[in-house]
Amino acid sequence: MTPARAVLIGVSLIAAQDATWVFEELVREFCNVEIAAIAVERIQGYADLEPEADEETRPEVQLEQDWPQHGVVEFQDFSVAYRPGLPLVLRDVTLSTFPGEKVAIVGRTGSGKSSLSQSLFRIMEANTGRIVIDGRNLASLGLQDVRSRITILPQDAFIFDGSVRENVDPLNTASDSEIWAALDAAQLKEVVQNLPDKLEEPIKGVLSAGQIFMLQKN
Ligand SMILES: Nc1ncnc2c1ncn2[C@@H]1O[C@H](COP(=O)(O)OP(=O)(O)OP(=O)(O)O)[C@@H](O)[C@H]1O
Ligand SMILES: [Mg+2]
Repeated sequence: MTPARAVLIGVSLIAAQDATWVFEELVREFCNVEIAAIAVERIQGYADLEPEADEETRPEVQLEQDWPQHGVVEFQDFSVAYRPGLPLVLRDVTLSTFPGEKVAIVGRTGSGKSSLSQSLFRIMEANTGRIVIDGRNLASLGLQDVRSRITILPQDAFIFDGSVRENVDPLNTASDSEIWAALDAAQLKEVVQNLPDKLEEPIKGVLSAGQIFMLQKN
C-alpha cells in the first residue's frame, strides 16, 4: 500500500466515525425537540381547561358546620353529560332517600350507577335539575365543602405510599388519640400497635386488602 493510499484510508475512517457521531446527535436532538413539543402541548391542554366552580361556599349561603346532618339525598329531575356535546348519561333522575337509609342502586353495566355517585361530588355539573342533600342544593355550595363532607368508598381500596399515620390522616389534622380511635373502629388498633414503628410504619405490605378497606371505611 502506498503511503498516499494509507493516508486516504485513515482520513476516510475518521470522517466515517464523525458521520456516525453527527447522526447520533441528530437523532438525540430530534427526540429532545419532540419531548419538549409534547410538554408544551400538555401545558397548553391544561391552560385551555375550563376552571371548576368556586372552592369556597359563599358566606351568604350560611352552610351549617355539621352539614349534612341527616343524609337525606334527593335527585330532582337530574340530568348530566360527561362533556358538552356528549349524550346525557343520566336523564331526568328523580329519587329521594330517608335519613340513615341504606340504598342499593342496581342496573346493567353502563346504565349510570357510577355516574350517579360521581355527580354527588360534582365531578360533572348538572345539565338540568339538581341534587339536594339535607335541604342544600349542592350547586349552591363550594366544591371544597361538597367534596370534604361526603365520603365515597371505591371498590378498589386505595392507599398512599406512606406511613399508617399519613394514610389515616392525610391532611395532618387529627391528634394521635383520634387516629388510634379511627384504627380501633376499623379493628386495626392491635395490628398497628404490634408494628415496630406503629403509626410511622410504612403501610405498604403491612395490611391485607380487606384491612385497607376497613381503614378507608372508618
Ligand atoms: N369518563 C367518561 N367520559 C364519557 N362517558 C363516560 C365516562 N364514564 C362513563 N361514561 C359513559 O356513561 C355511561 C354510564 O357509565 P357508568 O360508568 O356510570 O355506568 P355503570 O352503571 O357504573 O356501569 P358498570 O356497572 O359497568 O360500572 C356509559 O354509557 C359510559 O359510556
Ligand atoms: Mg360503575
